[in-house]
Amino acid sequence: PIIDIIVVGASNMDLVSTVARMPVLGETIHGTSFSTGFGGKGANQAVAAAKCGGKCAFLGKVGTDEFGKEMIRNLQTNHVDVSHVSVTDQASSGVAPIFVDEKGRNSIVIVNGANDLITPQDVDNAENMISKAKILIAQLEIQSPITLHALKLARKHGLLTILNPSPAPDTTIPEIAALMTDLMSYTDIVVPNEVEAAMLSKQSTDIAATPAGLNKVHDLLLGQGPILSLISLGSEGASVAVKTTSFVHPPTLVPCPKLEKVTDTTGAGDCLLGTFAYFLCEYLDKHAKQETTPHDLFVEQLKTDGISFIVECTKKAGQAATFSVQRPGTQKSYPNAEELSLLLQAA
Ligand code: RIB
Ligand code: NA
Repeated sequence: PIIDIIVVGASNMDLVSTVARMPVLGETIHGTSFSTGFGGKGANQAVAAAKCGGKCAFLGKVGTDEFGKEMIRNLQTNHVDVSHVSVTDQASSGVAPIFVDEKGRNSIVIVNGANDLITPQDVDNAENMISKAKILIAQLEIQSPITLHALKLARKHGLLTILNPSPAPDTTIPEIAALMTDLMSYTDIVVPNEVEAAMLSKQSTDIAATPAGLNKVHDLLLGQGPILSLISLGSEGASVAVKTTSFVHPPTLVPCPKLEKVTDTTGAGDCLLGTFAYFLCEYLDKHAKQETTPHDLFVEQLKTDGISFIVECTKKAGQAATFSVQRPGTQKSYPNAEELSLLLQAA
């Protein structure tokens, strides 16, 4: 099948306990409920895009255990192509024990397992599929050299590359800062949250919380290579800014719907990104030109259309993410195509 969006990253089994409050060190408390859910930022983003109706593939690795089998089955159920999901007997499948408190806030421990065993060869095996795709999405949950390898391969074939620098990289460590410089130079669209944006631009997190600080952070991010920085601001929405050699647009706030009650925010950022990629793909399809790569088309469209289409895609993605935080769980809380079209009609 022709795949438009390829997500390279981690898949985890989320082991979710709801608690009245977080336990402190050395303390034992009773939780109020338990459930398992399909997670991992890569798998979440792939499922979010596929649930909208996107032609999406996930490149990852799982263990030979039951969780691994269930995760592959779940991707298939959600119409994500799994021809590049491999299985290893050298580690357990990735798991993520998660606590969710009464306000819907979470604490997460990730055990990477099989996710850490993705090899450059696994990525190369997907070169044919990548060469025909439009967008490649990566995060920081798998070994960074693999992510870099995937971004480079995508760049070679003219794809638009998206990096979600999550979990937040500790750029006070020189090796990590150097690696991020490399990753950012192969990234067209960077999609951090506030904390990740602050880390990447070596600013304090409260600087990212003021408008002037946010502008500065955008500037610093765009100075590292990307054309578009899309900073997710949780319930405030998102802030987008663009810089190409021929077009510059200052930070613009794209608000999202306000909510009375939040149930579970786990994976809401992944929902935002997967949905954004889906709508961006749809836009690129509409304006496709022969002999023009998705990357070049994106740059050209910015010049002719300005950022209106970015704002539009971000707004829809924010609506999907807002929908997801009102329902428990991660992937299962993301809207499908039907729910999404109802949502967008109502807005
Ligand atoms: O972004 C949320 C995800 O982070 C969860 O699904 C969990 O698996 C962790 O990877
Ligand atoms: Na949710």
